[in-house]
Amino acid sequence: MHVHEGVIRFMIRHATALVLIFLLSAGAYAQDVTYRKHIRPLWEARCSTCHGAASPEGAVFDENKEKFAALSQGPRMDSYTALLSFVAWPDTGALMRRLDDGKSTADKKPGNMYVNLGNSEEERQRNLALFKQWVGTDAWTLKKPDAITKEELLRIKAKY
Ligand code: HEC
Repeated sequence: MHVHEGVIRFMIRHATALVLIFLLSAGAYAQDVTYRKHIRPLWEARCSTCHGAASPEGAVFDENKEKFAALSQGPRMDSYTALLSFVAWPDTGALMRRLDDGKSTADKKPGNMYVNLGNSEEERQRNLALFKQWVGTDAWTLKKPDAITKEELLRIKAKY
């Protein structure tokens, strides 16, 4: 009983501080990573030169990969919809396979776009974390379309 009363007295005395802490932490968690707010600016800074409006549609890129790669042109990803097609479908997991740092894979090799995430390891890790939060930390999988399950696919957040 004594402990209980003590806790209540403590809470009453510190009510303002407790409410404040609650509101602050709720605010931090409520901040979803979205395409508009976080991913688009990051994409513009780090990906647009090779995946922008001058680049071919994915299907056209696939017809002549070597030619486009020699021109430093990857498939076009300059809209939310286009980028999403490299996350969810039809190019399921492509973004994750290319951006992953390799730390959790068997061969430990990073994807070949990981290097483009930043100029320093610290910046690359920070931007990878942002992409992971956007896709969904429990949805980050390197699986290809024929290996991913419906449950895994439905975990993808990728908010606009
Ligand atoms: C210097 C140019 C360059 C930059 C910058 C660049 N890429 Fe690429 N990217 C390429 C080229 C060229 C290819 C195609 C060749 C290959 O598959 O490696 C490619 C391929 C890809 C693919 C695979 C597409 C497919 O066909 O499945 C993804 C996904 C990708 N890039 C994502 C990104 C992201 C995200 C960024 C920014 C963090 C980025 N790239 C930055 C040049 C670039």
